[in-house]
Amino acid sequence: MRMRALFTVMLLALPTAALASPRTLDLYEDALSLTPAPKRGAQLYQHRCASCHGKQALGSGEKVIPSLAGQLESYLLKELVDFVELDRDTPEMHRLMATRELGKPQAWRDLAAYLAQLAPNEQAQVGNGNAVIHGARAYADYCAQCHGEAGEGMEQGAAPALRSQHYSYLLLQLRSFDTDHRLNIEPPLQDSMVGLNRDDLEAIADYLSRLLPSARRTLTVTR
Ligand code: HEC
Ligand code: HEC
Repeated sequence: MRMRALFTVMLLALPTAALASPRTLDLYEDALSLTPAPKRGAQLYQHRCASCHGKQALGSGEKVIPSLAGQLESYLLKELVDFVELDRDTPEMHRLMATRELGKPQAWRDLAAYLAQLAPNEQAQVGNGNAVIHGARAYADYCAQCHGEAGEGMEQGAAPALRSQHYSYLLLQLRSFDTDHRLNIEPPLQDSMVGLNRDDLEAIADYLSRLLPSARRTLTVTR
């Protein structure tokens, strides 16, 4: 058990490449050094987050709210720090995270631990299905090296899972990488978008939204 805990900490401690400022990194590491209490995370979540992200944290494609269930713990934790630090320009999230109850590293740690253990969305909103094969190829060529062959994400580098995510949300993020919407995006990620046009991005988002969590190793189109 102790070995396992140590292993988890080692895995989670790596995403420095994806972090913007030394202060963000300090806050992330502060939170990481705390013992997570997922039960407390569950209470906080139902009280403060479920109204937007849904009771089971599955988000809403229609409202462009991301699914959080089963997302990687390191990534969730990092995003919460980014919202607190304004490294990610989302007023809804920032206002909330600035409140006293949610402004503490322990709260971020508990929330991330709770959300990471939930079952991922099996019914994410999908695109029109016209170019899914093209999306699969482009994803394999440009994105899989960081986000994993089946969109499962990688703790190392805090590259998020992209499977089980809503089409509308994926597309919104992909279209905003070259704007200042997410100030923490590192050059390698921006570079990976070079050469991809609007149609490519739609195809990739459509493909990803159809990937289910069970498709861990293969690039299977499931719907
Ligand atoms: C008022 C609605 C609202 C509430 C309440 C809310 N969120 Fe969000 N959240 C959003 C929206 C909208 C986004 C997408 C932001 C964007 O497009 O960058 C988001 C994004 C996120 C993300 C980033 C997900 C990703 O894949 O990058 C995380 C993590 C998150 N929220 C966690 C939480 C937690 C934890 C709470 C409760 C403490 C919470 N949210 C409460 C609206 C909300
Ligand atoms: C060099 C590694 C790397 C490559 C290549 C890469 N990404 Fe990412 N991606 C990341 C990291 C790291 C993040 C998290 C950024 C952050 O911390 O906010 C991310 C974030 C994202 C997000 C936001 C997810 C969310 O939940 O908000 C999407 C969508 C995404 N990438 C799609 C893609 C696509 C599509 C490609 C290929 C065209 C790609 N990425 C290539 C590393 C990479």
